[in-house]
Order: sequence, then C-alpha cells, then structure tokens
Amino acid sequence: MKIETARFRTSALDLEACPPSWQPEFAFVGRSNVGKSSLINMLTGKKELAKTSSVPGKTQLINFFDINKTWSLVDLPGYGYARLSKAKQNDFNINVSGYLTGRENLKHIFALVDSRMKPIEGDLAFIEWLQACKLPVSIVFTKSDKSSDATVENHAQLFLQKLDEWRIQAVKAFSCSAKTRVGRNEILQFIETMLPKKNKIKNQKTISLGWMKKKR
Ligand code: GTP
Ligand code: MG
Repeated sequence: MKIETARFRTSALDLEACPPSWQPEFAFVGRSNVGKSSLINMLTGKKELAKTSSVPGKTQLINFFDINKTWSLVDLPGYGYARLSKAKQNDFNINVSGYLTGRENLKHIFALVDSRMKPIEGDLAFIEWLQACKLPVSIVFTKSDKSSDATVENHAQLFLQKLDEWRIQAVKAFSCSAKTRVGRNEILQFIETMLPKKNKIKNQKTISLGWMKKKR
C-alpha cells in the first residue's frame, strides 16, 4: 500500500477529548521507549511526524495521524516508565485503557515488544488484558537492527511460546526496525486487509455514471 499523505491531526488527553471519527483506526501500544513513535514515522515515511526521544516517557498524549485521508494511526503513551511519578503513570494507564476499550472505530492494536529482551511479564499481562477486553491484537518485535537475526528470532519464539502458555491468541506477529525499515511492507499490507475495499466504491461509481448517461 502506498502512503500518499500522512498528517498529524490532533492530540487528546483521554477518550472524551478524542476527535470524532469513523475512519478505521490502528493503535500502537507498549512499554515506554519500545519504539512506538519511531514505527509510525517508519510506516509513513516521515521522519518527524511523531515525536521520538531516547529518553523514555516522550509521548504523553493520545496522538492521531490521518493517513491517505481514509484511515488513522494512533500513537499512545507508553507504560512502565519507572521515573514518572506513580500518580502520572496511573493517569496514563487510565487514559490509555479508556481509549482502548471505548474507541468504537479502533480496528486493531499493535502491541510492541523490544526484540532485545526476553519475555517481560508486564508485556504479557498487558496483552492478556487486551484479550480479556476482546480487543484484536498483533505483536510487533521492535529494534531488530540492534541484535543478530538469531537473537531476534530466539526472543520472538520465547515470547510467542509464553503467549501460548498464557492462552493468549495474537492475530499476527511481525519483526521490524525503524532504522532499516524491515517489516514495513508486511505491516502496511496487513493494515490494508482491514481497510474497506476501494474497488467496491469505484465499481459503484462506474455503474451509477453509466446509468446516468443512458438516461440522457
Ligand atoms: P515513549 O513515547 O516514551 O513511550 O517511547 P516510544 O515507544 O514512542 O519510543 P520512540 O519511538 O520514541 O523510540 C525510543 C528510542 O528508541 C529513540 O531513541 C529511537 O531512536 C530508538 N528506536 C526506536 N525504534 C528503533 C529501531 O528500530 N532501531 C533503533 N536502532 N533504534 C530505535
Ligand atoms: Mg512515543
């Protein structure tokens, strides 16, 4: 799928402040610093669309990006950033969970996991919670450029095994790098399968135009 336009739309603190939308929406969740904002930039091909930082806790609001004027990507604050006060972490969690459980046009969630690490219980618990809320989720192993292919594969396998043990069913799993752009096509193709089919609309237009011509 070609990304023709990618624009920042707005930021919101919580579900109530989110803009009304009927567009299919795809959200990126995960630990602080895992690479959510960088992945959005990599997918859209715009380096500074979402703000990134080597200091965890950069994204503090729910950020909406309008893609090809027909669907949206959503960058969320991360969890588990120990240096934030407990109260602030709690606010983030409440706001993020409110968005995830209450947003009607949310089509799919990408749960990001750092491919350099062995499975972390906090990530598994979060994904388990998504499943309990009946939210469809896929796993994205990030920063694959930072380790050898064998390590990325090994950590991904360990994580998928844990999902099995926890009886969690992810829709898909991807490995990606915001640096080398590995995984970009696969993720965009997957998103495309969840978008309304363009051809249907095109055909309908052709049919109705033909009918108008005949009438004249
Ligand atoms: P918060 O907004 O704090 O929750 O973080 P985030 O998950 O949005 O992470 P962000 O995209 O800001 O990236 C964190 C750091 O990791 C930045 O220094 C990025 O440059 C770096 N980074 C992200 N993805 C990759 C990647 O695929 N490869 C490499 N080498 N670095 C990455
Ligand atoms: Mg971020």
